[in-house]
Amino acid sequence: MSVTITRPRSLRGEIISPGDKSVSHRAVIFNSLSDSGTAQITNFSPGADCSSTEQIMSALGVEITREPGGNAVGDSLTVKGVGLQGLVEPADILDAGNSGTTTRLLAGILAGQSFLSVLTGDQSLKTRPMGRVVNPLTNMGAKISGRANNTLAPLIFHGGYLKGINYKMPVASAQLKSCLLLAGLRADGITRLSQPAESRDHTERMLSSMGAELKKEGLDLILQPSELETIDVEVPGDISSAAFWMIAAACHPDAELLIRNVGVNPTRTGILTALNMMNAQVELTDERQVAGEPVADVLIRTSDLKGIELSGETVPLLIDEIPVIAVAASVADGETVIKDAQELRVKESDRIESSVSWLRSAGINIEGTADGMIIEGNQKINGGCFQSYDDHRLAMSLGIAGLISEHPITISDPDVAAISYPGFWQTIRELGGLVG
Ligand code: S3P
Repeated sequence: MSVTITRPRSLRGEIISPGDKSVSHRAVIFNSLSDSGTAQITNFSPGADCSSTEQIMSALGVEITREPGGNAVGDSLTVKGVGLQGLVEPADILDAGNSGTTTRLLAGILAGQSFLSVLTGDQSLKTRPMGRVVNPLTNMGAKISGRANNTLAPLIFHGGYLKGINYKMPVASAQLKSCLLLAGLRADGITRLSQPAESRDHTERMLSSMGAELKKEGLDLILQPSELETIDVEVPGDISSAAFWMIAAACHPDAELLIRNVGVNPTRTGILTALNMMNAQVELTDERQVAGEPVADVLIRTSDLKGIELSGETVPLLIDEIPVIAVAASVADGETVIKDAQELRVKESDRIESSVSWLRSAGINIEGTADGMIIEGNQKINGGCFQSYDDHRLAMSLGIAGLISEHPITISDPDVAAISYPGFWQTIRELGGLVG
Protein backbone atom coordinates (compact mmCIF):
# COMPACT_ATOMS: atom_id res chain seq x y z
CA MET A 1 0.00 0.00 0.00
CA SER A 2 1.38 3.41 -0.98
CA VAL A 3 1.53 6.63 1.07
CA THR A 4 1.34 10.19 -0.21
CA ILE A 5 3.11 12.95 1.68
CA THR A 6 2.24 16.61 1.34
CA ARG A 7 4.12 19.51 2.82
CA PRO A 8 2.51 20.83 6.02
CA ARG A 9 2.36 24.62 6.37
CA SER A 10 4.71 24.46 9.30
CA LEU A 11 6.86 21.69 10.71
CA ARG A 12 7.13 21.97 14.45
CA GLY A 13 7.35 19.65 17.39
CA GLU A 14 9.39 17.19 19.37
CA ILE A 15 10.49 13.80 18.15
CA ILE A 16 12.12 10.96 20.04
CA SER A 17 14.58 9.07 17.89
CA PRO A 18 14.21 5.24 18.15
CA GLY A 19 16.98 3.13 19.71
CA ASP A 20 20.21 3.00 17.72
CA LYS A 21 20.42 0.04 15.35
CA SER A 22 24.20 -0.41 15.54
CA VAL A 23 24.29 -0.29 19.35
CA SER A 24 21.27 -2.62 19.64
CA HIS A 25 22.85 -5.35 17.47
CA ARG A 26 26.04 -5.20 19.51
CA ALA A 27 24.28 -5.14 22.88
CA VAL A 28 22.51 -8.46 22.14
CA ILE A 29 25.40 -10.20 20.42
CA PHE A 30 28.11 -9.26 22.90
CA ASN A 31 26.00 -9.95 25.98
CA SER A 32 25.08 -13.36 24.51
CA LEU A 33 28.82 -14.14 24.56
CA SER A 34 29.39 -12.89 28.11
CA ASP A 35 30.23 -15.30 30.85
CA SER A 36 28.79 -13.75 33.90
CA GLY A 37 25.06 -13.45 33.97
CA THR A 38 22.09 -11.56 32.68
CA ALA A 39 22.05 -8.19 30.92
CA GLN A 40 19.20 -5.71 30.56
CA ILE A 41 19.07 -3.84 27.27
CA THR A 42 16.64 -0.92 27.30
CA ASN A 43 15.32 1.15 24.36
CA PHE A 44 16.23 -1.64 21.92
CA SER A 45 15.87 -0.68 18.25
CA PRO A 46 12.33 -1.45 17.02
CA GLY A 47 13.61 -2.22 13.51
CA ALA A 48 13.36 -5.60 11.79
CA ASP A 49 17.15 -5.79 11.40
CA CYS A 50 17.71 -5.99 15.15
CA SER A 51 14.92 -8.57 15.49
CA SER A 52 16.86 -10.70 12.99
CA THR A 53 19.87 -10.55 15.30
CA GLU A 54 17.76 -11.38 18.34
CA GLN A 55 16.21 -14.40 16.58
CA ILE A 56 19.57 -15.71 15.43
CA MET A 57 21.07 -15.47 18.91
CA SER A 58 18.02 -17.37 20.26
CA ALA A 59 18.50 -20.03 17.57
CA LEU A 60 22.10 -20.37 18.80
CA GLY A 61 20.83 -21.27 22.26
CA VAL A 62 20.81 -17.89 24.04
CA GLU A 63 17.87 -17.19 26.37
CA ILE A 64 16.41 -13.80 25.41
CA THR A 65 13.16 -12.32 26.69
CA ARG A 66 11.50 -9.13 25.48
CA GLU A 67 9.24 -6.74 27.39
CA PRO A 68 7.46 -3.77 25.85
CA GLY A 69 9.10 -0.41 26.63
CA GLY A 70 7.23 2.55 28.10
CA ASN A 71 5.87 5.58 26.30
CA ALA A 72 7.97 6.20 23.15
CA VAL A 73 10.72 3.95 24.52
CA GLY A 74 11.82 0.81 22.69
CA ASP A 75 11.40 -2.70 24.13
CA SER A 76 13.64 -4.06 26.87
CA LEU A 77 15.55 -7.28 26.32
CA THR A 78 16.96 -9.60 28.94
CA VAL A 79 19.90 -11.61 27.61
CA LYS A 80 21.47 -14.50 29.51
CA GLY A 81 25.09 -14.84 28.42
CA VAL A 82 26.36 -18.32 27.56
CA GLY A 83 30.07 -17.45 27.28
CA LEU A 84 32.34 -17.58 24.24
CA GLN A 85 32.14 -21.39 24.09
CA GLY A 86 28.48 -21.77 25.00
CA LEU A 87 26.55 -21.36 21.72
CA VAL A 88 24.88 -24.49 20.33
CA GLU A 89 24.45 -25.81 16.79
CA PRO A 90 21.30 -24.27 15.29
CA ALA A 91 18.64 -26.68 14.10
CA ASP A 92 18.03 -24.72 10.92
CA ILE A 93 19.47 -22.14 8.52
CA LEU A 94 19.95 -18.75 10.19
CA ASP A 95 18.09 -15.92 8.47
CA ALA A 96 19.59 -12.41 8.77
CA GLY A 97 16.80 -10.88 6.65
CA ASN A 98 17.97 -7.55 5.22
CA SER A 99 20.73 -7.02 7.78
CA GLY A 100 24.34 -6.73 6.65
CA THR A 101 25.42 -5.94 10.22
CA THR A 102 23.88 -9.18 11.53
CA THR A 103 25.54 -11.21 8.79
CA ARG A 104 29.02 -9.76 9.09
CA LEU A 105 29.16 -9.65 12.89
CA LEU A 106 27.78 -13.18 13.15
CA ALA A 107 30.31 -14.40 10.57
CA GLY A 108 33.06 -13.49 13.05
CA ILE A 109 31.41 -15.64 15.71
CA LEU A 110 30.23 -18.60 13.64
CA ALA A 111 33.65 -19.00 11.99
CA GLY A 112 35.21 -20.18 15.26
CA GLN A 113 32.51 -22.53 16.58
CA SER A 114 32.74 -26.28 16.94
CA PHE A 115 29.58 -26.79 14.86
CA LEU A 116 28.20 -26.22 11.40
CA SER A 117 25.94 -23.26 10.62
CA VAL A 118 24.44 -21.66 7.53
CA LEU A 119 23.63 -17.94 7.31
CA THR A 120 21.41 -16.39 4.66
CA GLY A 121 19.12 -13.43 4.13
CA ASP A 122 16.77 -11.70 1.71
CA GLN A 123 17.34 -10.93 -1.98
CA SER A 124 19.27 -7.72 -1.24
CA LEU A 125 21.49 -9.33 1.39
CA LYS A 126 22.37 -12.16 -1.00
CA THR A 127 23.91 -9.61 -3.40
CA ARG A 128 26.08 -7.88 -0.77
CA PRO A 129 29.83 -8.54 -0.72
CA MET A 130 30.83 -11.09 1.91
CA GLY A 131 34.34 -11.75 0.55
CA ARG A 132 35.51 -8.83 2.71
CA VAL A 133 34.81 -10.93 5.82
CA VAL A 134 35.33 -14.42 4.35
CA ASN A 135 38.90 -13.69 3.15
CA PRO A 136 40.42 -12.49 6.44
CA LEU A 137 38.46 -15.08 8.44
CA THR A 138 39.86 -17.76 6.11
CA ASN A 139 43.34 -16.37 6.81
CA MET A 140 42.58 -16.83 10.51
CA GLY A 141 41.92 -20.50 9.78
CA ALA A 142 38.15 -20.50 9.26
CA LYS A 143 36.48 -22.84 6.80
CA ILE A 144 33.70 -20.93 5.09
CA SER A 145 31.91 -21.69 1.82
CA GLY A 146 29.46 -19.53 -0.03
CA ARG A 147 28.04 -18.75 -3.44
CA ALA A 148 30.12 -17.03 -6.11
CA ASN A 149 33.43 -18.47 -4.97
CA ASN A 150 32.72 -17.83 -1.28
CA THR A 151 31.80 -14.17 -1.68
CA LEU A 152 27.99 -14.21 -1.38
CA ALA A 153 25.44 -15.57 1.09
CA PRO A 154 24.21 -18.14 1.86
CA LEU A 155 27.45 -18.74 3.76
CA ILE A 156 28.31 -22.08 5.33
CA PHE A 157 30.52 -22.04 8.42
CA HIS A 158 32.21 -25.37 9.02
CA GLY A 159 33.63 -24.12 12.34
CA GLY A 160 37.05 -24.77 13.77
CA TYR A 161 40.14 -23.30 15.32
CA LEU A 162 41.11 -19.65 14.66
CA LYS A 163 44.41 -17.87 15.08
CA GLY A 164 44.90 -14.11 15.48
CA ILE A 165 45.53 -11.98 12.41
CA ASN A 166 47.54 -8.88 11.53
CA TYR A 167 45.27 -7.30 8.93
CA LYS A 168 45.26 -4.13 6.88
CA MET A 169 41.59 -3.43 6.24
CA PRO A 170 40.87 -2.49 2.61
CA VAL A 171 37.72 -0.49 3.56
CA ALA A 172 36.74 1.70 6.52
CA SER A 173 33.94 -0.61 7.60
CA ALA A 174 32.64 -1.01 11.15
CA GLN A 175 31.01 -4.29 10.15
CA LEU A 176 34.32 -5.71 8.96
CA LYS A 177 36.32 -4.59 11.99
CA SER A 178 33.61 -5.86 14.35
CA CYS A 179 33.58 -9.23 12.60
CA LEU A 180 37.34 -9.63 13.00
CA LEU A 181 37.37 -8.41 16.60
CA LEU A 182 34.65 -10.93 17.49
CA ALA A 183 36.65 -13.69 15.80
CA GLY A 184 39.77 -12.45 17.61
CA LEU A 185 38.11 -12.78 21.04
CA ARG A 186 38.52 -16.54 20.96
CA ALA A 187 41.39 -16.86 18.48
CA ASP A 188 44.83 -18.03 19.48
CA GLY A 189 47.12 -14.96 19.69
CA ILE A 190 46.74 -11.25 19.10
CA THR A 191 44.48 -9.71 16.42
CA ARG A 192 45.76 -6.43 15.01
CA LEU A 193 43.69 -4.38 12.55
CA SER A 194 44.83 -1.29 10.61
CA GLN A 195 41.93 0.86 9.54
CA PRO A 196 42.22 3.13 6.49
CA ALA A 197 39.97 5.67 8.26
CA GLU A 198 37.79 5.83 11.37
CA SER A 199 34.34 4.23 11.22
CA ARG A 200 31.71 3.88 13.97
CA ASP A 201 33.40 2.61 17.14
CA HIS A 202 30.50 1.14 19.14
CA THR A 203 32.18 -2.28 19.11
CA GLU A 204 35.41 -0.95 20.61
CA ARG A 205 33.55 0.98 23.31
CA MET A 206 31.27 -1.88 24.28
CA LEU A 207 33.89 -4.65 24.20
CA SER A 208 36.25 -2.53 26.31
CA SER A 209 33.57 -1.83 28.89
CA MET A 210 32.85 -5.59 29.01
CA GLY A 211 36.47 -6.25 29.95
CA ALA A 212 38.04 -7.14 26.60
CA GLU A 213 41.75 -6.36 26.33
CA LEU A 214 41.53 -3.98 23.41
CA LYS A 215 43.96 -1.14 22.73
CA LYS A 216 43.85 1.62 20.14
CA GLU A 217 47.05 3.03 18.60
CA GLY A 218 46.16 5.72 16.08
CA LEU A 219 43.80 3.94 13.71
CA ASP A 220 45.11 0.48 14.69
CA LEU A 221 43.21 -1.84 17.00
CA ILE A 222 45.00 -4.52 19.02
CA LEU A 223 42.98 -7.25 20.71
CA GLN A 224 44.11 -10.02 23.06
CA PRO A 225 41.81 -13.04 23.33
CA SER A 226 39.41 -12.10 26.13
CA GLU A 227 36.37 -13.23 28.08
CA LEU A 228 33.44 -10.78 28.31
CA GLU A 229 31.51 -9.59 31.35
CA THR A 230 27.82 -8.76 31.07
CA ILE A 231 26.81 -5.10 30.88
CA ASP A 232 23.44 -3.42 30.92
CA VAL A 233 22.95 -1.13 27.94
CA GLU A 234 20.57 1.80 27.66
CA VAL A 235 20.53 2.22 23.89
CA PRO A 236 20.78 5.89 22.77
CA GLY A 237 18.52 7.26 20.03
CA ASP A 238 19.68 6.58 16.48
CA ILE A 239 21.33 9.60 14.83
CA SER A 240 20.82 7.95 11.42
CA SER A 241 17.04 8.00 12.07
CA ALA A 242 17.19 11.51 13.55
CA ALA A 243 19.01 12.71 10.41
CA PHE A 244 15.77 12.51 8.39
CA TRP A 245 14.08 15.03 10.68
CA MET A 246 17.15 17.27 10.74
CA ILE A 247 17.08 17.53 6.95
CA ALA A 248 13.30 18.02 6.90
CA ALA A 249 13.51 20.95 9.33
CA ALA A 250 16.52 22.55 7.65
CA CYS A 251 14.79 22.50 4.23
CA HIS A 252 11.19 23.33 5.20
CA PRO A 253 10.27 27.04 4.96
CA ASP A 254 8.74 27.22 8.46
CA ALA A 255 10.25 24.64 10.76
CA GLU A 256 11.63 24.02 14.21
CA LEU A 257 12.09 20.46 15.43
CA LEU A 258 13.58 19.24 18.68
CA ILE A 259 14.85 15.68 18.40
CA ARG A 260 15.39 14.13 21.82
CA ASN A 261 17.88 11.50 22.92
CA VAL A 262 20.16 11.43 19.88
CA GLY A 263 23.41 9.44 20.11
CA VAL A 264 26.22 11.84 19.18
CA ASN A 265 29.20 9.50 19.24
CA PRO A 266 31.83 11.42 17.20
CA THR A 267 32.16 8.47 14.78
CA ARG A 268 28.48 8.98 13.85
CA THR A 269 28.15 12.77 13.72
CA GLY A 270 29.23 13.30 10.11
CA ILE A 271 25.64 14.45 9.47
CA LEU A 272 26.10 17.30 11.98
CA THR A 273 29.41 18.21 10.32
CA ALA A 274 27.70 18.24 6.92
CA LEU A 275 24.76 20.32 8.18
CA ASN A 276 27.14 22.82 9.77
CA MET A 277 29.08 23.06 6.51
CA MET A 278 25.77 23.61 4.71
CA ASN A 279 25.00 26.54 7.03
CA ALA A 280 22.14 24.80 8.88
CA GLN A 281 20.75 26.24 12.10
CA VAL A 282 21.42 23.30 14.36
CA GLU A 283 22.14 23.25 18.10
CA LEU A 284 22.97 20.48 20.53
CA THR A 285 21.52 20.80 24.02
CA ASP A 286 21.59 18.74 27.21
CA GLU A 287 24.74 16.84 26.19
CA ARG A 288 25.22 13.81 28.46
CA GLN A 289 26.70 10.30 28.64
CA VAL A 290 24.42 7.25 28.47
CA ALA A 291 26.01 3.80 28.86
CA GLY A 292 29.39 5.01 27.60
CA GLU A 293 27.94 6.84 24.60
CA PRO A 294 27.46 10.63 24.27
CA VAL A 295 23.83 11.70 23.83
CA ALA A 296 22.19 15.10 23.22
CA ASP A 297 18.96 16.74 22.12
CA VAL A 298 19.18 18.32 18.68
CA LEU A 299 17.28 21.49 17.83
CA ILE A 300 17.08 22.38 14.15
CA ARG A 301 15.28 25.15 12.30
CA THR A 302 14.55 26.42 8.79
CA SER A 303 17.93 27.24 7.24
CA ASP A 304 19.40 28.79 4.11
CA LEU A 305 21.39 25.75 3.07
CA LYS A 306 24.31 25.94 0.69
CA GLY A 307 25.96 23.25 -1.40
CA ILE A 308 29.14 21.58 -0.11
CA GLU A 309 31.78 19.03 -1.01
CA LEU A 310 31.81 15.83 1.04
CA SER A 311 34.81 13.55 0.68
CA GLY A 312 37.57 11.64 2.45
CA GLU A 313 37.39 10.77 6.12
CA THR A 314 34.01 12.46 6.71
CA VAL A 315 32.28 9.97 4.42
CA PRO A 316 32.34 6.86 6.68
CA LEU A 317 30.96 9.06 9.49
CA LEU A 318 27.76 9.81 7.52
CA ILE A 319 27.62 6.92 5.07
CA ASP A 320 23.99 5.98 5.84
CA GLU A 321 22.81 9.59 5.64
CA ILE A 322 23.87 10.30 2.06
CA PRO A 323 20.51 9.47 0.40
CA VAL A 324 18.77 12.13 2.53
CA ILE A 325 21.69 14.58 2.22
CA ALA A 326 21.14 14.29 -1.56
CA VAL A 327 17.56 15.54 -1.02
CA ALA A 328 18.84 18.57 0.94
CA ALA A 329 21.56 19.21 -1.67
CA SER A 330 18.90 19.43 -4.42
CA VAL A 331 17.25 22.44 -2.78
CA ALA A 332 20.41 24.02 -1.26
CA ASP A 333 22.05 27.04 -2.86
CA GLY A 334 24.91 25.88 -5.11
CA GLU A 335 26.34 22.58 -6.23
CA THR A 336 27.07 19.64 -3.92
CA VAL A 337 29.78 17.13 -4.77
CA ILE A 338 30.02 13.80 -2.94
CA LYS A 339 33.21 11.77 -3.48
CA ASP A 340 34.96 8.76 -1.94
CA ALA A 341 31.60 7.15 -1.24
CA GLN A 342 31.92 4.02 -3.42
CA GLU A 343 30.71 1.96 -0.40
CA LEU A 344 27.23 3.31 -1.21
CA ARG A 345 27.18 0.93 -4.17
CA VAL A 346 27.08 -2.11 -1.84
CA LYS A 347 24.46 -1.04 0.70
CA GLU A 348 20.83 -2.29 0.88
CA SER A 349 20.53 -0.89 -2.66
CA ASP A 350 23.21 0.70 -4.86
CA ARG A 351 22.54 4.04 -3.17
CA ILE A 352 24.35 6.08 -5.82
CA GLU A 353 22.18 4.53 -8.53
CA SER A 354 18.93 4.60 -6.51
CA SER A 355 19.36 8.19 -5.24
CA VAL A 356 20.37 9.55 -8.64
CA SER A 357 17.62 7.72 -10.44
CA TRP A 358 14.72 8.79 -8.18
CA LEU A 359 15.88 12.42 -7.88
CA ARG A 360 16.37 12.63 -11.63
CA SER A 361 12.83 11.37 -12.22
CA ALA A 362 11.67 14.09 -9.78
CA GLY A 363 13.26 16.68 -12.09
CA ILE A 364 16.56 17.19 -10.27
CA ASN A 365 19.75 17.74 -12.19
CA ILE A 366 22.00 15.12 -10.62
CA GLU A 367 24.79 12.99 -11.96
CA GLY A 368 26.18 9.74 -10.54
CA THR A 369 29.92 9.16 -10.52
CA ALA A 370 31.91 6.01 -9.73
CA ASP A 371 32.30 7.05 -6.09
CA GLY A 372 29.52 9.56 -5.45
CA MET A 373 27.30 12.16 -7.08
CA ILE A 374 27.15 15.76 -8.23
CA ILE A 375 23.93 17.59 -7.43
CA GLU A 376 23.00 20.96 -8.88
CA GLY A 377 21.41 23.12 -6.18
CA ASN A 378 18.50 25.61 -6.16
CA GLN A 379 16.04 23.14 -7.67
CA LYS A 380 12.46 22.16 -6.99
CA ILE A 381 11.60 18.53 -6.34
CA ASN A 382 8.64 17.56 -8.56
CA GLY A 383 5.84 15.41 -7.19
CA GLY A 384 4.96 11.96 -8.43
CA CYS A 385 5.01 8.32 -7.45
CA PHE A 386 8.39 6.81 -6.67
CA GLN A 387 9.66 3.47 -5.43
CA SER A 388 12.19 2.83 -2.72
CA TYR A 389 14.34 0.14 -4.38
CA ASP A 390 13.47 -2.01 -1.33
CA ASP A 391 15.79 0.18 0.69
CA HIS A 392 14.58 1.59 4.02
CA ARG A 393 16.75 4.70 3.83
CA LEU A 394 15.56 5.47 0.30
CA ALA A 395 11.90 5.11 1.37
CA MET A 396 12.43 7.54 4.26
CA SER A 397 14.39 9.99 2.05
CA LEU A 398 11.37 10.04 -0.27
CA GLY A 399 9.16 10.76 2.75
CA ILE A 400 11.35 13.72 3.71
CA ALA A 401 11.24 14.99 0.12
CA GLY A 402 7.43 14.92 0.47
CA LEU A 403 7.61 17.05 3.64
CA ILE A 404 9.62 19.78 1.90
CA SER A 405 8.44 19.70 -1.73
CA GLU A 406 5.64 21.95 -2.99
CA HIS A 407 4.20 18.88 -4.72
CA PRO A 408 2.89 15.66 -3.11
CA ILE A 409 5.19 12.67 -3.22
CA THR A 410 3.81 9.13 -3.27
CA ILE A 411 5.95 6.25 -2.11
CA SER A 412 4.79 2.97 -3.61
CA ASP A 413 6.38 0.65 -1.01
CA PRO A 414 6.66 2.48 2.30
CA ASP A 415 6.69 -0.60 4.57
CA VAL A 416 10.40 -1.17 4.01
CA ALA A 417 11.10 1.72 6.43
CA ALA A 418 10.41 -0.81 9.22
CA ILE A 419 13.88 -2.30 8.65
CA SER A 420 15.22 0.44 10.93
CA TYR A 421 12.30 2.76 11.82
CA PRO A 422 8.77 1.27 12.01
CA GLY A 423 7.31 4.48 13.52
CA PHE A 424 8.59 6.73 10.71
CA TRP A 425 5.29 7.23 8.82
CA GLN A 426 3.35 7.71 12.06
CA THR A 427 5.74 10.55 12.98
CA ILE A 428 5.22 12.10 9.54
CA ARG A 429 1.47 11.89 10.19
CA GLU A 430 1.90 13.59 13.58
CA LEU A 431 3.89 16.34 11.88
CA GLY A 432 0.93 16.91 9.55
CA GLY A 433 2.48 15.45 6.42
CA LEU A 434 0.62 12.26 5.54
CA VAL A 435 -2.34 12.24 3.18
CA GLY A 436 -3.06 8.56 2.75
C1 S3P B 1 26.99 -0.51 10.51
C2 S3P B 1 28.04 -0.11 9.75
C3 S3P B 1 27.92 0.54 8.44
C4 S3P B 1 26.51 1.06 8.19
C5 S3P B 1 25.45 0.07 8.61
C6 S3P B 1 25.60 -0.28 10.09
C7 S3P B 1 27.27 -1.18 11.79
O1 S3P B 1 28.29 -0.38 7.43
O2 S3P B 1 26.34 1.38 6.83
O3 S3P B 1 24.15 0.61 8.40
O4 S3P B 1 26.37 -1.26 12.64
O5 S3P B 1 28.40 -1.64 11.99
P1 S3P B 1 29.85 -0.60 7.05
O6 S3P B 1 30.57 -0.80 8.31
O7 S3P B 1 29.92 -1.81 6.19
O8 S3P B 1 30.23 0.65 6.31
